Amino acid sequence: MATMESLIGLVNRIQRACTALGDYGGGDQAFSSLWDALPSVAVVGGQSSGKSSVLESIVGRDFLPRGSGIVTRRPLVLQLQKTEDGKQEYAEFGHLPRRKFSDFASVRKEIQDETDRITGKTKQISPVPIHLSIYSPNVVNLTLIDLPGLTKVAVEGQAESIVEDIENMVRSYVEKPNCIILAITPANQDIATSDAIKLAREVDPSGDRTFGVLTKLDLMDKGTNAVDVLEGRAYRLQQPWVGIVNRSQADINKNVDMMAARRKEREYFATSPDYGHLAGKMGSEYLAKLLSRHLESVIRARIPSITSLINKSIDELEAEMDHLGRPIALDAGAQLYTILELCRAFDKIFKEHLDGGRPGGDR
Ligand code: GDP
Ligand code: NA
Ligand code: MG
Repeated sequence: MATMESLIGLVNRIQRACTALGDYGGGDQAFSSLWDALPSVAVVGGQSSGKSSVLESIVGRDFLPRGSGIVTRRPLVLQLQKTEDGKQEYAEFGHLPRRKFSDFASVRKEIQDETDRITGKTKQISPVPIHLSIYSPNVVNLTLIDLPGLTKVAVEGQAESIVEDIENMVRSYVEKPNCIILAITPANQDIATSDAIKLAREVDPSGDRTFGVLTKLDLMDKGTNAVDVLEGRAYRLQQPWVGIVNRSQADINKNVDMMAARRKEREYFATSPDYGHLAGKMGSEYLAKLLSRHLESVIRARIPSITSLINKSIDELEAEMDHLGRPIALDAGAQLYTILELCRAFDKIFKEHLDGGRPGGDR
C-alpha cells in the first residue's frame, strides 16, 4: 500500500483549501462548518505569560514579532508540516501563496506588516486570522493558533472595550468542542490567578481538552517549586501539565539561538533537584510530541464526522456548479472545481485511514 499522508498533514490541506475558498462567495457555509470540525490547538494566556516563546520553542525558530504590550493583534494560524531530513526549511503565508520564505526574520516582518495591513499601526485587534505554514524536517505535524494575550486593563491608545474584545476573540476559538487548549501559566504567578486556566475552566470544565503549560519555572522564588502543579495535585486536568523553561529576555538580547535554548532547557530539567524525576515529561520538545500525538488521535477519532462533512461539502459544491451552469465564470468555476477534486481526494484518503486503521501508523 502506498504510504498514507499523515492525518494532520491532510487536515492542514483541508484548512488551507477552506481559507482559499473564503475568497469566493459561494459554498463557504459548508466550509466554515468543516473548518470548525477540524481539531487544532489554541495557545491561550495572559500577556507576557510566554505564549510566543512556547510557540517558537515548538517550531525551533525565532519568527514571531516580540515586544512588551499587545504584540499579537490578529490570530495566527500556524501549520507545521514535517518534511524529509535534509530538506530546506521554508515558510509560506496564506495571503502570499506563491512566495517561499527561507529567512525567518522576514517571516517576522511579514507577520508585523500583515497585522498592520488590517489594524493599521494602532494597538487595535482584528479577528481576521493570518495563515502561516512552516515546512521543516525539525518540526512535528501540528496546527497551532496564536491568539492575543488576555489582559486586564486598556492602555493608552486602546478602546476601553479591548479587555473584553480580546477575551471574546479568544473565547470564540476555545469554546469550540474541537479546540485543544494550551493554557499558558507563568510559574512565578499564583495559579489561582491564571487568566488561561480561568478561561479554560469556563469552556472546558472537565479539563478533557486542556493542556496546562507552566512557563518561567526558572523564575520562581528560591525555596519554592511547582511539583504540586506539574504532578496534577494543585489543579487537576485530564491531560498532563508540562513545565517549560524558555529563553529569558537576557538570553534573547544575547541572541541565544533556539537549539542552544532547547539544550539548556533539557539540562535544566535533567539536573534539577526538584524536577529531575519528571525530566522525561518536561520541556518544549516533549510538549510538541505530546500535542502532535494527541492531535492525531483526536483527528483519527473524528474521521467519520469529518468525512461526512466533506461529503456534504461535495454535494453542495456539485449543486452549486450545476446551478452556475455553463459558461461559468472562469475563476469561480476553476476554484470550485479544484476544491471539489480536493474534497474527493480527502474523502478517499480518510477512508483508507479508517480502513487501514493502524494506530499511530503514520507517526
Ligand atoms: P507572550 O506575551 O505571552 O507571547 O510572552 P513572550 O513569549 O513574549 O515572553 C514574555 C517575556 O518573558 C520575554 O521577555 C521572555 O523572554 C520571557 N520569558 C518567557 N518564558 C520564560 C521562561 O520560561 N523563563 C524566563 N526566564 N523568561 C521567560
Ligand atoms: Na508579549
Ligand atoms: Mg506574544
